[in-house]
Amino acid sequence: MRILVTGASGQLGSYLLRELARQGNHEVIAWSGTQTGERFGCKLQPIDMADLYTAGSCLFEVKPDAIIHAAALASIAQCYCEPKKAKVVNGYACFELADIQAAWAVMIVPRHMCRMVMVSTDLVFDGKHAPYREDSEARPKSVYGRTKEMGEGLALCYPDVPNVVARLSLLFGPSLNGKPNFFDQQVAALRTRQPLALFTDELRTPLDYATAARGLIELAESDYTGILHMGGPERLSRYEMGLKLANALDADPSVFVPTERNAVPSPEPRPRDTSLDSSRWRSLSKLQLPSFEVGLNEMLFG
Ligand SMILES: NC(=O)c1ccc[n+]([C@@H]2O[C@H](COP(=O)([O-])OP(=O)(O)OC[C@H]3O[C@@H](n4cnc5c(N)ncnc54)[C@H](OP(=O)(O)O)[C@@H]3O)[C@@H](O)[C@H]2O)c1
Repeated sequence: MRILVTGASGQLGSYLLRELARQGNHEVIAWSGTQTGERFGCKLQPIDMADLYTAGSCLFEVKPDAIIHAAALASIAQCYCEPKKAKVVNGYACFELADIQAAWAVMIVPRHMCRMVMVSTDLVFDGKHAPYREDSEARPKSVYGRTKEMGEGLALCYPDVPNVVARLSLLFGPSLNGKPNFFDQQVAALRTRQPLALFTDELRTPLDYATAARGLIELAESDYTGILHMGGPERLSRYEMGLKLANALDADPSVFVPTERNAVPSPEPRPRDTSLDSSRWRSLSKLQLPSFEVGLNEMLFG
């Protein structure tokens, strides 16, 4: 297949490129937002998703068999500060891609079927009714969650276009793109013994980046359509995750300071428990879906 990865320069996108390079059986086209250079044998092509016309024209030229759409304004704080940009990048861009897929699907000559795996988030939920299933009602509490929910609806708006919305939970693992992420900060805190506050009362079903990447590629290759929840098997707070990380590194866990969410002011309410029920994914996938500890070990030592 010819697979287009958007957001290929991001945290998740880098794992997608690495996994696709390892598998070696697909032609890969890698779109970034702004970054250039080469990653895992792929040239990053900067395409601004906020420029819908250009993004659409470029998609038309590439004509992939599948799109793994991971590009997003993925920071809750940035979405809050730039809600209009978040609406375009996280929302309308999904329509632009789906609209071109729909045009290909109805053309008589040359007809071209292309499917999209739109990467979404557990933060489309309000945190009051976990664990959430695919048919649970989305009630986002942040600009980020609202714009991602909007993108979900637009990605699935054409019944004849075989798209998937993959809702991921909190992802963890070291950065592969040179921009340290929260996991890297926790490892650094343990190594330098710098105290770091971790929330005890925000619960997620965390999943390691490598498994998320394998799952998304498997979905792109499958014929599943609709929404699919892809979370890890355990419901954990960031503090509990931190303790498991300290244990895996044989480091002093007292570096992590247990902290309640409301001790840190935030402009938007944060959902308390957005744990995903991922039993459908577990029954459909042929992958070995790891426990949190096994995923953590792969991320640290694999
Ligand atoms: N990380 C998590 O825990 C998590 C959990 C659930 C769901 N997700 C979803 O997973 C996806 C990837 O997240 P991530 O953590 O990898 O985020 P990230 O590291 O911030 O990466 C975002 C990617 O999107 C690109 N991008 C941003 N604005 C763009 C624009 N205007 N046009 C084109 N591309 C643009 C960035 O490109 P440049 O850097 O080159 O500008 C980058 O490649 C997102 O859809 C996010 O909602 C993430």
